[in-house]
Amino acid sequence: MVTGHETGTTVVLPTVRIAPLDPPPELGQLRETRPVTRLQYPDGHRGWLVTNYQVARAILADRRFAVHPIRPAVGNPAKAIENTGSDATAQAGNLLVSDPPVHTYLRRAVAGQFTIRRVAERSEFVSETVATLLDQMLTGGEPADLVESFSLPLPSLVLCELLGVPPSDRRRFEEPTDIRLNPNSTIEELAAARINFLDYVRGVIEHKRASPADDVLSDLARNETLTGNELAGMAMSLFIAGHETTAIMLASSVYALLTTPGRWDALRGDPSLVNSAVEELLRFLTVVPTIFATRTATADVDIADVHIAASESVTISLCAANRDPDRFPDPDRLDLERDAAGHLAFGQGIHTCIGQHLARLELQLGLRGLLERLPNLRLAVPAAKVPMHAPERNAYGVLRLPVEWS
Ligand code: HEM
Repeated sequence: MVTGHETGTTVVLPTVRIAPLDPPPELGQLRETRPVTRLQYPDGHRGWLVTNYQVARAILADRRFAVHPIRPAVGNPAKAIENTGSDATAQAGNLLVSDPPVHTYLRRAVAGQFTIRRVAERSEFVSETVATLLDQMLTGGEPADLVESFSLPLPSLVLCELLGVPPSDRRRFEEPTDIRLNPNSTIEELAAARINFLDYVRGVIEHKRASPADDVLSDLARNETLTGNELAGMAMSLFIAGHETTAIMLASSVYALLTTPGRWDALRGDPSLVNSAVEELLRFLTVVPTIFATRTATADVDIADVHIAASESVTISLCAANRDPDRFPDPDRLDLERDAAGHLAFGQGIHTCIGQHLARLELQLGLRGLLERLPNLRLAVPAAKVPMHAPERNAYGVLRLPVEWS
């Protein structure tokens, strides 16, 4: 049994990728040799890194692991507070950094808006938005950047509709999100972005209180059990979590399909594969490579021959778990017909992604729209020239995607 006092090899979170869409190879080696290993955090303390699927799933579902205190596994520890919102006001209302019982009532306040049934009611709006964006992209001519023309505006506009803000407000949440997710943002940039964002969100909530409509923020504004800070924090976290992850996933999916021989043609030939393809792409790409919120053991836990002591930090590598060959045979193969159900791309347990049905709907309808309207879609530059996000970013994938289609 390896314990917290063991002084064997300690790793820092591997982030260097050799192939742009494959996890850092070091993670695969760790999964084989030390699936739960000592991890050195940027602030100098030591915890654990999990790369095995079954252990990852078990810890995420285990209520003995809390999300407090918040300790980012990569980046400058001085930025931890701004980056994760771990100060009192920013933390209020943020599901990701709340533990039960607070998490329970916060999640209950919005969960009803994100059920499969409620999300299905948005299908028409999502389809129309897909069609409008593709019309505009075709009119603009080739080459085009698929991220700017399609994969980013789609989830942003859907989020505007869902939360009940005008489409022109897109930039108000896209910019601060980019700053927050970017590991190279300075503390000053993070602080300024947060203040502006909070002002914006408070203004929107005031407006919703004065003239409520049929949208998520009006619904929240009517909720008298939430404090003002909780309302603002919840709204902020929905704005932040709700668009960029989906945008990166959509663009990276197209990149993966176009650069893996035969995959785009297979989907074009049989669009009924789109739904299973989306699940496999979620597994294969795992655009949130590491859980957003480091877990902390609230009791001693023995798991996978390791003794995790109470108060020790645990980081789960979702991208390593989703490439575990014991769970997904031939895991590095993008197999559009694979049953990828059970993947951990949306996390697991009480913090599992609340927006996952919405993300799936956007990914499915977005890919269908592209296959129908742009069947000859191809990269406008060599695959190696397509820029990717910084690998240590909280959401990783294609940054820009120059494409042609005629
Ligand atoms: C492909 C797109 C998406 C991916 C890959 C993704 C991934 C994730 C992951 C991995 C978590 C859990 C993190 C952890 O346990 O530390 C999470 C949580 C969350 N996601 Fe998503 N997400 C996506 C889209 C969305 C959308 C569209 C929304 C909202 C409209 C959303 C809102 C949230 C929220 C609020 C949480 C926190 C839930 C809680 O703590 O109870 N996400 N997401």
